This record gives sequence, C-alpha cells and structure tokens, in this order.
Amino acid sequence: MLKGKTIALGVTGGIAVYKAADIVSRLKKLHANVEVIMTEGATEFVTPLTFQTMSGNVVHREMFSEITNYDVEHISLAQKADIILIAPATANTIGKIANGIADNLLTTVVMASTAKIIFAPAMNTKMYQNPIVKENINRLKSLGYSFIQPGAGRLACGDYGEGKMAEPVDIVEYIIDSLVEKDLSGRKIVVTAGPTIEPLDPVRYMTNHSSGKMGYSIAKEAVSRGAEVVLISGHTSITPPKEVELVKVKTTEDMLKAVAKHFDFCDVLIKSAAPVDYKPETVSPIKIKKKENEEDELIIKYVKNPDIAAYFGKQKKHQVMVGFAAETDDLDKYALEKLKKKNFDFIVANDVTKEGAGFDVDTNIVTIIDNKGIKTNYPMMNKREVARVIVDKVKYILDNKS
Ligand SMILES: Cc1cc2nc3c(=O)[nH]c(=O)nc-3n(C[C@H](O)[C@H](O)[C@H](O)COP(=O)(O)O)c2cc1C
Repeated sequence: MLKGKTIALGVTGGIAVYKAADIVSRLKKLHANVEVIMTEGATEFVTPLTFQTMSGNVVHREMFSEITNYDVEHISLAQKADIILIAPATANTIGKIANGIADNLLTTVVMASTAKIIFAPAMNTKMYQNPIVKENINRLKSLGYSFIQPGAGRLACGDYGEGKMAEPVDIVEYIIDSLVEKDLSGRKIVVTAGPTIEPLDPVRYMTNHSSGKMGYSIAKEAVSRGAEVVLISGHTSITPPKEVELVKVKTTEDMLKAVAKHFDFCDVLIKSAAPVDYKPETVSPIKIKKKENEEDELIIKYVKNPDIAAYFGKQKKHQVMVGFAAETDDLDKYALEKLKKKNFDFIVANDVTKEGAGFDVDTNIVTIIDNKGIKTNYPMMNKREVARVIVDKVKYILDNKS
C-alpha cells in the first residue's frame, strides 16, 4: 500500500519512543521505506539498534559524522522523504522547528524539506497546555504543518489529561490518507456496514457477528480519496471517519429506507453490511417472561426481511454496485449466484471459517468475482488494504463507463 514511498520518521526524546517502534513495524508491513532520524534525547530511551533492525536501514543521528558516501545526509533525506513524521514530537523539537532552529539532524532535515511534515506530539499535560507550546503549535499549523491530536488519559508520569501520543494504528492511517491521490472527488459513494438487529421484545434481539470493520475501512478509503461518502451503519463500536455522513440504523428495513434516500443520487453503492435476513413475525411490546417449567420451549416464527441488495439491483441505472458474500462453504458457487441474482458489478467473497478472514478481525482474505465471471484471489491483507483493492476496482469501472 505504501510501496515506493519513503517515510522519514523523526524520533525525539519522549517516553512514548517505544510506540515509534510499532509505527515502523506497521509502515514496513505496508511496504514503505522507513528512514529513522533519532535525536540525542531519543537515544537515551531506546538504542538505535531497535530502529535499525525494524526499519532495515541505518538510523540517522549525527549531522557532522564522517561522510561515507557523497550525499549530504540532511539534504538527501529531505529530498527522498515523501512524508516526514515526527513521533513522538517533544515540546522541545516542536519549539525549535517553530522558531527556525536547525541545530541537529532532524530539525535540519525538516528545514531543508518540501515534503509534508506531520507531528504526533507526546508530552505531559501541563507541558501540552503551556501557552508557549500552544503558540508554537499554532504557528506551525498556520504555516501548513500537520498535527495528529494527542489523546487524553493516564500519562507515563502518572498525570491524567491531554498529551498522550495518538495510537500507532491511527498515525499510520493518517499517513496513508496523506499520501493518497484525491481521485474520487465529485463522486458520491454509499457504503453500508455492520449488522442490523431485529427485536423480539423490548430487551432481546436477533443479530449476527458482523463488526462493521470492513465497511468502515471502505468508507475511510473512499473519503480519503475525495469522495462524498454516506456511511449507513448498524450497531458497531468503531469510531467513524470524521468526514463521512453517518446514518445509524437498527433494522434491515431501516437500512433499506436509508439507502433508498441516497440511491438515485449516488455513483456507487457498496453493500458491506450484514443485514439480518429474517425477523420475528411479531415483536412483543413487553418482555417475554421466562417460564419456570423445565420442559417449556419458546417457539418464535421468523419471516423474511426485504433483500436490500436484490431490491437496489433491480433499480440500478448508472450506479456501480458492489456486494459481499461471507460464506462458510461452497464460496465460489454462492458468490457467483449472488452476483448474478443481485446485479452486482462485482462481488467480494470471503470464507469466514478461515483464520484471518472472519468477523471482528483486522484482516481479510478475499476473492473478487466480476460480472464477466473473472475471479481474482487475494492473499491475507489488512482491511484497509482490502478496501483499497475494492475502491481501486470501483474507480476503474467508473472511469471506463460509457
Ligand atoms: C524520563 C523523561 C521523559 C520525558 N518525556 C518527555 C515527553 O514525553 N515529552 C516531551 O516533550 N519531553 C519529554 N522529556 C523531556 C525531553 O527529553 C527534553 O526536553 C529533551 O531536551 C528533548 O530533546 P529532543 O526534542 O531533541 O529529543 C522527558 C525527559 C525525561 C528525562
């Protein structure tokens, strides 16, 4: 996903240095070239060997070291970086850069680079709230530097409050978003995600194991590429991307109505939700009481819910429609049947019994079958990578529509 990209990671002397190792590991998994620049302060916390081993590159530290090749190190690093990420970013380094000080390798690389520069600050709350630090951050923001907001919580020093470095997973997502081309601007994409629920009485309901992770990753990928995204979501515990229009729904019928509001005006409908297929014929207005007799049974009659995909498949005009098939057996057969029956442009099929491909995991192993029957198998990827494959395919179809 980041193949061919160079991320210069500036690591400064804060207690969150250990999290920077996780950032390197995540960037490497996405095939980025990572060049780590450590300040002297950072080397007090972790040895360069850690970052050297994880990045597969020599760690850059010294500005005045003996020249071993004929690149001037700070200039060549500044030029080859697609992004400079400073994580953790200390109050000291933020202050230096805000004031034009270039007295070590990292601050000099920043000064010499035209790449996008991103800070992930990490510090004690009192430091973070210090008006001098605030002013430095505001000055840098006004000059076009980016900041990934630290979180609040228990800090390493024992204090509670703002200043905890953003999580590596979110920092890496931020980098992916920063590097992606805005090739879907002007497009409206509706994504459904998560499970629906069908109530049985005021306290019980029927649902399924869908986590919504796949749909949320697709929404994130599409919005970061400039699309207007409507995310129609059943219950999940995931934080939606800020830039999407989020429509929360409960039942399958609610989901159908929500899609209907947007369908005529959208370019793409991606149906990654797992709507419940059957619902109780009647919903008890009061809690169904448990009977005391051991042999008692509770027999519930279920009736069919509307089939959202088939419904919009029939109404489809200009829209690109993408479906999902989560199966436990005969994957190809069911996926192909579903693709044809529901008039999808392509279907993303996965065998949920495979390790790394089921519900509520961060990875997926998918097979994509298009409406000409062409089948492509993909290896295990994280859900954001799968989202990129899907959105790339959607973009290709949109671009080649007559
Ligand atoms: C144990 C310890 C933890 C520290 N944690 C932080 C921190 O989280 N954030 C910060 O801004 N400074 C922190 N500092 C202070 C910095 O290390 C100090 O300001 C140093 O000059 C930073 O240099 P650098 O920005 O060149 O890495 C800490 C210092 C110590 C001794």
